[in-house]
Amino acid sequence: MKNRIFSGIQPSGDIHIGNYIGAIRNWAQMMDDYECIFCIVDYHAMAGKYDPKILQQRIMEAATVNIACGLDPDRCAFFVQSHVIEHTELTWMFNCVTPIGELQRMTQFKDKSKHQNQNINVGLLDYPVLMAADILIYKAEIVPVGEDQIQHIELCREIARKFNATFGETFPEPQAHLGKHKRIMGLDGKNKMSKSLNNYIGVLDTDDEIWKKLKSAFTDENRIKKTDPGNPDICNIYSLHDALSEADTISEVNQDCRKGRIGCVDCKKKLHQSLSFHLTPIRDKADFLFNNPDKVQEILKQGAMKSKKIAEETMREVRIKTGFR
Ligand code: TYM
Repeated sequence: MKNRIFSGIQPSGDIHIGNYIGAIRNWAQMMDDYECIFCIVDYHAMAGKYDPKILQQRIMEAATVNIACGLDPDRCAFFVQSHVIEHTELTWMFNCVTPIGELQRMTQFKDKSKHQNQNINVGLLDYPVLMAADILIYKAEIVPVGEDQIQHIELCREIARKFNATFGETFPEPQAHLGKHKRIMGLDGKNKMSKSLNNYIGVLDTDDEIWKKLKSAFTDENRIKKTDPGNPDICNIYSLHDALSEADTISEVNQDCRKGRIGCVDCKKKLHQSLSFHLTPIRDKADFLFNNPDKVQEILKQGAMKSKKIAEETMREVRIKTGFR
């Protein structure tokens, strides 16, 4: 029996290379060794600013890009969260064992409350409980995510412990799985790459759009002249090379930068080539799927059917243990 993994992504607009490197690429690499369940978490998007008129379009875009990035429906279940309604039922059960103080101290809750200070809704606070339900309804043991989700996974473990202690051993305590590149910085070099900060390269951006973004991207600010020696350890462009370029390009750029033999523009040109190499097949596959949305819908339908079976079984057990029949 393979260990089971679960992970999710929001349908909130452009999927960027931070999502790709920090999460989706790792998911695709884990499909042979684990039983994999991946999810477009549409209910989570509702806690932030979202437009109901384009929600379905966003879900289809997110699904298409994830499949284009390598999720293979024959080797994983891939579906939309709201199609397996049991996630919300389990959330309610978990709400009743989660101390409110734990939710109030979540870094993302604090950050997002600042960002959307006119809309600090209960969903925003409860977000990590819904996440715990997403994971535990499948009794997943491993959760591959970027670094920003670690605190939520720790809370998920705590919720599992609390539930087990109250109602009897039911859930495993899942572990976060981080890849080598767990936090991709944005093009501003100051913040994590994210859609809301508009500091990102989209997986579906064209080569021209990417070059425009790269041209103004932040590098090692101590390098003024091309011949100044640079420090790749603190350069954001180098960290993207490290995540995406071939091994010989990475070591060449590293050495040439330190000796002032390559300037930032040429270094960015090489990164541009690596990005084009990675993203061209993804864009092509996404184009094909955008023209064949029925294929994506069928994948999501099959994924929901597979997942729902497991979710229903868990909920049957949970209802009995919590005294509901
Ligand atoms: P979301 O949609 O913000 O991001 C999806 C995944 O991408 C990772 N990620 C990054 N990794 C490295 N560098 C970055 N700059 C970067 N930006 C995003 C995230 O860590 C994440 O793994 N709450 C989650 C979705 C979710 C979930 C779950 C995840 C809902 N339920 C259950 C795991 C398990 C979120 O908003 O991810």
